Amino acid sequence: MKKTILSGSTVTGDLTLGNYIGAIHNWKQLQEKYDCLYFLADLHALTVFQDPKVLRDRTYSFFAQYLALGLDPQKNIIFVQSQVPEHTELSWVLTCLTPMGYLNRMTQFKEKSEKHVKNINAGLYTYPILMAADILLYQADLVPVGEDQRQHLELCRDIVGFFENRYGEGILKMPEAYIGKSGARIMSLQDPEKKMSKSDENEKNFVSIIDDAKKIEKKIKGAATDSGTEIKYDPETKPGLSNLMTIYSVLSGKTTEELEKEYEGKMYGHLKVDLADVVVQTLRPVREKYDDLMKNKDHLDQLMKSGSERARARSRVTLENVYKAVGLVR
Ligand code: TRP
Repeated sequence: MKKTILSGSTVTGDLTLGNYIGAIHNWKQLQEKYDCLYFLADLHALTVFQDPKVLRDRTYSFFAQYLALGLDPQKNIIFVQSQVPEHTELSWVLTCLTPMGYLNRMTQFKEKSEKHVKNINAGLYTYPILMAADILLYQADLVPVGEDQRQHLELCRDIVGFFENRYGEGILKMPEAYIGKSGARIMSLQDPEKKMSKSDENEKNFVSIIDDAKKIEKKIKGAATDSGTEIKYDPETKPGLSNLMTIYSVLSGKTTEELEKEYEGKMYGHLKVDLADVVVQTLRPVREKYDDLMKNKDHLDQLMKSGSERARARSRVTLENVYKAVGLVR
């Protein structure tokens, strides 16, 4: 039996090179060895204000980007969260098991309520419970998540504990974090102390998967580099350069030592020009496939629908077991 892996992206901002290198690139390898589900968390996006048209367009765009990046809708179940109503259904049951004290501790809630002072809604607060439902519906064994989502995964595990205490074991599976091999963490281009974030307001900080060649070149050439001239991988003293070298290394398959040798005696500018080229070459076929997919919305609708139907069939089983266990008449 293959283990089940589940992960998703909130439908906000732009999918970036950081998402590709840190997550989606790894998912592609996982699809061979595991039973994988990947979804777009559009309901989670609603916790901050979304323009309806932008949200709708972005959902198609992210879905097409998943496919263009090489996630295979036959090998994986790829779906849209809101098309599987079981997510919100399970979420309610879990909400009734989660003490407010546990939610109060969530650092992301604290950060987001500072950022969106005018819209501190209850969904922002219960966000991690919906995330727990996403995971538990599919009996996921492993969840690849970034550092910023660790606490939410811990809460999910706590919720399994609350459920088992009250209703017994064997209904929900206890998930674990999946720690990838390289786990490359890509940093912001202008501020390499921060992670490259898809919801960054300053677009100079990230390369989007669907940026054109001109934009990519401009952003890479304009990336902040450190004082000094030597091309040396050292995240402590040269965070900007080291970030660029990490990107270079992952995309080219060369180690950072090999890059240091190759660029001995050369300047930061040389490396930037070559890196921009590597990024452009990597993303060009993705962009082409993306443009193709986006031309045919009906086809995308079809693929979403079939993914969501497969997801529903799986999630329904867990939900029915939960409903029965808690005493709802079926
Ligand atoms: N909260 C995650 C993020 O913003 C997205 C997400 C929602 C998720 N549900 C999930 C990730 C379940 C993993 C598993 O990145």
